[in-house]
Amino acid sequence: MAERTPLISGNWKMNHNHLDALALVQKLSYHLGGHNYDKVEVSVHPPFTDLRTVQTAIESDRMKFSLGAQNCYFEESGAFTGEVSPLFLAKLNVKYVIVGHSERREIFGETDDDVNRKVKAVFKAQMTPIMCCGETLEERESGGAQAKVAGQIRAGLAGVPDSQIAAMVIAYEPIWAIGTGRTATPDDAQEMCGAIRAVVAEVAGGDAAAAVRIQYGGSVKAGNAAELMSQPDIDGALVGGASLVADDFAGIITYRS
Ligand code: 13P
Repeated sequence: MAERTPLISGNWKMNHNHLDALALVQKLSYHLGGHNYDKVEVSVHPPFTDLRTVQTAIESDRMKFSLGAQNCYFEESGAFTGEVSPLFLAKLNVKYVIVGHSERREIFGETDDDVNRKVKAVFKAQMTPIMCCGETLEERESGGAQAKVAGQIRAGLAGVPDSQIAAMVIAYEPIWAIGTGRTATPDDAQEMCGAIRAVVAEVAGGDAAAAVRIQYGGSVKAGNAAELMSQPDIDGALVGGASLVADDFAGIITYRS
């Protein structure tokens, strides 16, 4: 099986101005100072207004973090007031862009088609999408979770070349586990991540399915990260609340030690 480097991503959501963001990334780097976390990749996803500040800190202090964004638009420029072009993010050395987070889908009405266009736009700008999927509590309880997630994956990947699918990241985030302190059991998370990999195999072939990285997200903490990440189809974590506290996020990043 292909070697997949786990990706641990901190989604700061709409938290921290650029000064707080600078302090957080510096504290995180300090907390990780004595640890060896070479076997994982770490990305931080501050709000847009903090990106330049965090980029400068990462590059000048040679921090071992990749810069990420939380969203972008699918057009490159034009009369789209308030939107952010993928090209602008690429210019800030952003490597990963979260696309189709459930908060964007549920609160801002993003559709599967929007998500698909954003995945393509992120690749076009030479960055890597982290495409999110996940079911509501109602969908889980009615037995419709796998159908919902499979539908999101098929729609999000439509027309994306197999080689790009192999290089991307998919984040499985059950909506009922986000910010609730209620984590999916490692077995349930594994079952869904395995099902996602099977859908990727159908859509893009076995090689892409073996290569694509699948994160779990939803109340990941230092105390549950190791067990979640030890599952065969879970290749990292997308972390919300715990990524806002340097000590807690460092505990997740060093889950192997
Ligand atoms: P929490 O870790 O706060 O549950 O958030 C998960 C999430 O939505 C990350 O994108």
